[in-house]
Amino acid sequence: MTIGNKFKLAAILNIILFAATVYGQNTGDKGINPVDKTRIDNLLKTMTIEEKAGQLTLFMSGWDVTGPKLDNNYKGLIKEGKVGALFNVYTVDYVRELQKMAMEETRLKIPLIFGYDVIHGHRTIFPIPLGQACSWDMAAIEQSERIAAQEATAEGLNWTFAPMVDVARDPRWGRVAEGAGEDTWLGSEIAAARVRGFQGKDYKAGNTLMACAKHFAAYGAPQGGRDYGTVDMSQLSLYEWYLPPYKACVDAGVGSFMTSFNEIAGVPSTANKWLMTDLLRKDWGFGGFVVTDYTSINEMVNHGNTENTKDAARQAINAGVDMDMQGSTYLDFLPELMKEKKVSMATIDNAVRLVLEAKVKLGLFEDPYRYCNKTRQEQEVMTPDQLAFARKMVAVSCVLLKNPKQVLPIPENVKSIAVIGPLGDSKKDMLGNWTAAGEWEKCVTLVEGIRSMVNDNVEVYYEKGCNTNDLDRSGFDAAQKIADKADFVILALGENGWMSGEAASRTRIDLPGVQNELAELIVKLGKPVAVALFNGRPLAITRLNNLPVAILETWFGGTQAGNGIADVLFGVVNPAGKLTMTFPRNEGQIPIFYNGKNTGRPYNPADSGAKYVSRYLDCSNDPLFPFGFGLSYTTFAYSNLVTNVNGGKINVTVQVANSGNRDGEEVVQLYVRDKVGTITRPLKELKGFQKVLIRKGETKSLNFTLTKEDLAFYHPDLKKFFEPGEFIIYIGTNSQETISKSVVLN
Ligand code: BGC
Repeated sequence: MTIGNKFKLAAILNIILFAATVYGQNTGDKGINPVDKTRIDNLLKTMTIEEKAGQLTLFMSGWDVTGPKLDNNYKGLIKEGKVGALFNVYTVDYVRELQKMAMEETRLKIPLIFGYDVIHGHRTIFPIPLGQACSWDMAAIEQSERIAAQEATAEGLNWTFAPMVDVARDPRWGRVAEGAGEDTWLGSEIAAARVRGFQGKDYKAGNTLMACAKHFAAYGAPQGGRDYGTVDMSQLSLYEWYLPPYKACVDAGVGSFMTSFNEIAGVPSTANKWLMTDLLRKDWGFGGFVVTDYTSINEMVNHGNTENTKDAARQAINAGVDMDMQGSTYLDFLPELMKEKKVSMATIDNAVRLVLEAKVKLGLFEDPYRYCNKTRQEQEVMTPDQLAFARKMVAVSCVLLKNPKQVLPIPENVKSIAVIGPLGDSKKDMLGNWTAAGEWEKCVTLVEGIRSMVNDNVEVYYEKGCNTNDLDRSGFDAAQKIADKADFVILALGENGWMSGEAASRTRIDLPGVQNELAELIVKLGKPVAVALFNGRPLAITRLNNLPVAILETWFGGTQAGNGIADVLFGVVNPAGKLTMTFPRNEGQIPIFYNGKNTGRPYNPADSGAKYVSRYLDCSNDPLFPFGFGLSYTTFAYSNLVTNVNGGKINVTVQVANSGNRDGEEVVQLYVRDKVGTITRPLKELKGFQKVLIRKGETKSLNFTLTKEDLAFYHPDLKKFFEPGEFIIYIGTNSQETISKSVVLN
């Protein structure tokens, strides 16, 4: 038998074995059963080194005006078995066409994985992740990812490059839009909810996606807030503040991880063996595969930790990075590196095994076309239920920042409304960053949402007034005219959809262009004015905040933006969102976050003249809007905070009354200060919350329990343990307005 024939026979045997696998015997997401393991072993024995390198290679497709387009060179590589996965390839026909190449034209017939950035929805686009986080509604966040997975798998996809779980304390960094904000504990809860939503119980279900926790690690802490920037921090900070959300993804069973572009302490993540192998695999027990970020192996030459791409590939694979996104370095160099004994076959086999295991878990060997179902594509995308949910998601993500004299909700007897501002009728901006397969033409703008909310007797006027980001004031007059004839004015102001996201760092984060001037002009007319803010990051809107206007933070709401915002503006939904990132007064305060430390010379507002204390000369230490902040159309009163220690736990009870005149939901937040630690502790740390509906006039009694595990923290040996002593328990409506009680736990 020739070698070629031998390979063919082995390949056929393997395919038969795979097809015959009793998948019901799988141990689920967490493992591969012994039968499948043997089959993967057999397949590995038949693969050439080039085919192995191919399995570790991920390439992307582009899109032309006429439709999807994959470079012919890539097509050739697929047929040679030199591609393991593709991204930016979706829709059933296109996925089927390329999968067919892998299944019918390659020697080993190993199916491809199809990945995509399903970041906040697939076709039905939900609010940006930072906005969703402000809902503090884990079930809703999970459900939005469930729908995203439903839609994406109906269009041929099986892998999402999400969730992004990078903790971020610097709003200059544009990618804060993609994360959950500044808090580690809340970020971990959200990370787990998102993995559960994408993957379901079993990502082999056919309508669930394999998730990818990114960007490992600490991508959210670039110096100066400049994207891709250097990260340098103590090991303690890394463990305490940045790593837990990634770990939460592992605990939730995430199938893959993505490396980050940045270096940490001089080592680019993609070459960091300690991160990718020691911590992720050995300490945390992660069993899936690791993919690079886009060409991050090649970029090591720029980082300067190597002279050439070949050596960068050596560093990455030896660090435990299994798949190369778009850089082609594994394909180009692994065969040589192996021959030169710079990379062992065992290392390569291990990486290939992890990729093949993912394919087994996705059910691709069983049926490579299982995600290519035309009926599903027609029936399970942008359904009325999905759109209704998206509308709800917009409303629960809104945060009411200011509401003087109860300007909002818009009075029922309103006769005419003027909507003014560059974001009022711009469908394209509603999707925000990472528009994925979202179709901007299908977005509902604010003006459209308002028009469909009011009856025919109410006039709704619209004028743009100005652009988001230039100095053109020629639209001011027309804007003034419609404001003049309306009873109520809504200003739609903010950033455009592309001012946040990747490669969108900014040093000035006030409203861009002449929008503040427009607002000041309109306010002079003396009408009731509400601002709907559209933005992908906290903004330093001190100037706008000085005006007597209501301000509703709406983020970028996605497909149903205008409808969901209108629900809040008209009071159909009482806003209950709370900020998960601090809004600074100005950029000089950055980084600013709620869980800072006291310092040896803390500033005391009661002694505001003190000089040698930790303060600014020209600005207060306090932010414009703190973490956890958000108003409602009703009010809540907190009382009777009781703590008691029982069985080594702290039980906390508090009463929250709805003291206003509408039903409303409140996010009741629990913070802790550990008074004395061998390692100094933050002034406040979020340790729990409950989102509750409290009817007008009603008082609810809420209970929380804190265990020693909840109060444990990292020590210089990077071990986490509890230190007995005094704790101050704070409960309140945001991180600053709280009631508190001291308690001792030994
Ligand atoms: C981003 C990733 C993304 C990848 C693929 C990169 O530039 O950093 O978050 O998943 O591109 O689109």
